[in-house]
Amino acid sequence: MVSPPGHPARIITLMNQKGGVGKTTSTVSLGAAIARLGRSTLLIDLDPQAHLTLHLGLDPVALDHTVYDLLVGPDADRPHVDDVIQPVGKHLDVLPAHVNLAGVESELAPRMVTGTAQRVLMQALSQPGADGAAPVVERYEFILIDCPPSLGLLTVNALTLANEVLVPLQAHFLALQGLSQLLDTVTMIRQSFNPALRVSGVLLCMHENQTLLAQEVIADLGRFLDAARDQDVPWRHAKVLEPPIRRNIKLAECPSFGQTVFDYAPTCHGARDYRKAAEDLIAHGPAEVAGVASDATVTAEPASDDAAPVPTVEGAADPDRLQPVAQGAAPGHGGH
Ligand SMILES: Nc1ncnc2c1ncn2[C@@H]1O[C@H](COP(=O)(O)OP(=O)(O)OP(=O)(O)O)[C@@H](O)[C@H]1O
Ligand SMILES: [Mg+2]
Repeated sequence: MVSPPGHPARIITLMNQKGGVGKTTSTVSLGAAIARLGRSTLLIDLDPQAHLTLHLGLDPVALDHTVYDLLVGPDADRPHVDDVIQPVGKHLDVLPAHVNLAGVESELAPRMVTGTAQRVLMQALSQPGADGAAPVVERYEFILIDCPPSLGLLTVNALTLANEVLVPLQAHFLALQGLSQLLDTVTMIRQSFNPALRVSGVLLCMHENQTLLAQEVIADLGRFLDAARDQDVPWRHAKVLEPPIRRNIKLAECPSFGQTVFDYAPTCHGARDYRKAAEDLIAHGPAEVAGVASDATVTAEPASDDAAPVPTVEGAADPDRLQPVAQGAAPGHGGH
């Protein structure tokens, strides 16, 4: 399970504060597809709804420990991360969630002023493993994090740990509206906590290519991403992953059976789309992205004023909001 030397884990946060766009389905399906390609993969359920945990056939109530126990409480009561991780398939492990994760935001809030609340997940996964094993962050080739539909402290913790962001998106009316706020949050975390953070891609989910609206949204998205190519913004290397994930009933059915789509209906087009998208994600790694080395070493700068605005946005990055993460006002615009 140890990553080959010189190949640090790709830690990818799947985030979109809009609810029901396909974050959990994509985290499970991309992760399972990557594991089936022989790459050691850890999925982290950072959503109090625990949908990812349930999708993988685990009952959060029956588990001794979940990710909640790693994030809060006195050090003495904290389980070792190796006692929380559950194997769910060949090359595939999960760090499960429980509904009590909902309490983390308020429990950690007093520690936001010092900037420690935003780092608890990263610290938990950077501890040496049991019996001298490598820390979790060095043990896998891929770590995929499923976020709740909000930009609150749990998502901030995912961004502090990750080196990449993948945005599942449905090409619907107002689909791009929340993107500005999302990218502002990524920019703030890059400046405050994680200079190496970049947006690697967008994944179109539940896609209906035949609609004019979907085609218009995709064209808008393409223009926006293209305009960022020569800007010092975290999404300048972002691509729309291929193929889009078509709507497929098997993808909606498989969670009730506690199975990934590859176990439940391996030949359906949902499985085929996710398999190909996983291959595209693997191919679009840091080494393959020209200029990414400078991303990792860059002293993070505020997003350029010249960056193209996201279509139908609520507003550009406000410089006054660029420090508050460390000062106690982490982005917390929740909502579906
Ligand atoms: N390609 C697809 N075809 C059909 N149904 C899908 C597809 N992708 C996801 N679904 C279904 O759509 C619903 C929402 O998907 P999912 O739970 O992955 O979204 P989410 O963004 O994680 O939601 P939340 O914001 O609540 O966490 C689920 O019932 C899921 O099974
Ligand atoms: Mg979800």
